[in-house]
Amino acid sequence: MEVVPLGSASEIAVLAADVIEAVVRRKRAAVLGLATGSTPLPVYQELIRRHNAAAGPAYDGVTCFNLDEYVGLPAGHEQSYRATIARELTDGLGISPAQVNGPDPSPAELPTAGERYEALIKAAGGVDVQLLGIGSDGHLAFNEPGSSLASRTRIKTLTAQTRKDNARFFDSPDEVPTHVLTQGLGTVLEARHLLLIATGDGKAAAAAAAVEGPVSASCPASVLQLHPHVTVLLDQAAASRLDRLDYYTEVYAAKPTWQGL
Ligand code: PGA
Repeated sequence: MEVVPLGSASEIAVLAADVIEAVVRRKRAAVLGLATGSTPLPVYQELIRRHNAAAGPAYDGVTCFNLDEYVGLPAGHEQSYRATIARELTDGLGISPAQVNGPDPSPAELPTAGERYEALIKAAGGVDVQLLGIGSDGHLAFNEPGSSLASRTRIKTLTAQTRKDNARFFDSPDEVPTHVLTQGLGTVLEARHLLLIATGDGKAAAAAAAVEGPVSASCPASVLQLHPHVTVLLDQAAASRLDRLDYYTEVYAAKPTWQGL
């Protein structure tokens, strides 16, 4: 795992955008794993800024997979993750809705939604780079504490903490859905490169537990320690509780330029 302490969310955005663009430049039919929430927004804005400046790669061959989706919102709801990803990223990059996949929360199809999503990811050849946030409770995608480290895409119940954290996107806390469909931790681990980003002191404890704590279902993001290619980009506040912060800083400063992330 490579932990990169950075000065600000905008530095994270630049590096994360570099990683994503490099994958698409190398592989026109790249498979991109996308995350929602507030943390990825500067990354998405940076990608769109470069695209509009004709400095980005061609996205016409990519396929995208969203990490998760709310269950129980009306189809097309502006806070559904399908609508959010279109609004915040893919529309701006000229990626058509047909290129973007998400778990299917339609009520009649719920019992098979997980296995159908897994099959779609597999048929696309797996995810090349997966962008990830982290919950203040250590969740990864919507795998809440206690989730099996081997879990696959399935329905989950959100914790009270996550519903509270996400209430800012809705008119009232009661409107935050109680259930979600989420890629499992075992599903996430199959992506070739995992790119976790976290900003702000609200993420400091979760980031420290994920990176330096024991691998445990009590901190689902700690499962990243089992993956061979993980990059963790943290701003100063999110990195503030890492015991080995000085070492990570030294490692990054002395990183050979040919190595990349
Ligand atoms: P946030 O969400 O980026 O809005 O903090 C992260 C997450 O819940 O994984």
